[in-house]
Amino acid sequence: MKPKVFITRPLPEEVVEPYRGRLDIEMYPEDRPIPEAELASKQGEIDALIPMLSEKLGEEFFSNTSAKVVANLAVGYDNIDVTAAKKHGVTVTNTPDVLTETTADLTFALMLTTARRISEAEDYIKNDQWKQWSPLQLAGTDVHHKTIGIVGMGRIGEAVARRAKGFSMNVLYHNRSRKEAAEKEFGATYVSFDELLKQSDFVVCMTPYTKETHHLFNEEAFRKMGEHAFFINTSRGKTVDEQALQKALEEKEIKGCGLDVFENEPISADHPLLKLENVTATPHIGSSSMETRYRMMQLCLDNVSRVLTGENPITPVT
Ligand code: DGY
Repeated sequence: MKPKVFITRPLPEEVVEPYRGRLDIEMYPEDRPIPEAELASKQGEIDALIPMLSEKLGEEFFSNTSAKVVANLAVGYDNIDVTAAKKHGVTVTNTPDVLTETTADLTFALMLTTARRISEAEDYIKNDQWKQWSPLQLAGTDVHHKTIGIVGMGRIGEAVARRAKGFSMNVLYHNRSRKEAAEKEFGATYVSFDELLKQSDFVVCMTPYTKETHHLFNEEAFRKMGEHAFFINTSRGKTVDEQALQKALEEKEIKGCGLDVFENEPISADHPLLKLENVTATPHIGSSSMETRYRMMQLCLDNVSRVLTGENPITPVT
């Protein structure tokens, strides 16, 4: 009998098909979060689960599941209680590396879009407002030669720093530990969190969401940033106190922001941040290129196959 794998969304058959010879794969047929009761009805009959970040897996799941491995389709795994997984002997894996460059591209795209007012400019032309050339028409802010402050110098932070170097930017960073390789490669300078906020033209949040980073960007943090500064977040929304961010934007304590992630996702069009013209927003698409999403899916399936045949997973979290 082949081991049973349950995937909480329908993935493209061309990705899944090569694994069907060794795994009995079932997918939730709807492209929306699986209702908790439906997932609970599967948990006792599966050998592996491939969830999305929309599934919250805690003690309740891990104490009742027959799964030996949970392969999260994301690099972030704040949706999974890894302590509970460990306690019940379930291996958890994630998808680092394969999404690094794609997420860094989106981060840079948000910086450029926000600073150069690209969304506004697109609306302007599509709404037939372009009637003449004028000296300060849609004038934005330069990105090149400015100072970028990267909070969280992990793999994606480093990939953002590499791009910043190509734009002749001065790179500052703050991290739990010094990253000497990044300092050498990108001329990045390690500074305290406060110094980074004070000195950066672009403050970029790349830190994972943990208890320690909950609302790291709060009223005090935004107050320390300059009125010329932009805030960019492609990490996790809960690192930001959104009410404080809204206030900072409304009161022009900072110049603008680019957000790919939000405290509670998905947000709706009446979210207060979306009403502000100095906000550029995208719906959590950091790693969303076809190439990368396919690689993430394959990595999950490879991790599952390995664990179920007694090998070590490629990218374990626990
Ligand atoms: C991740 O992998 O953690 C992303 O946020 C999902 O695209």
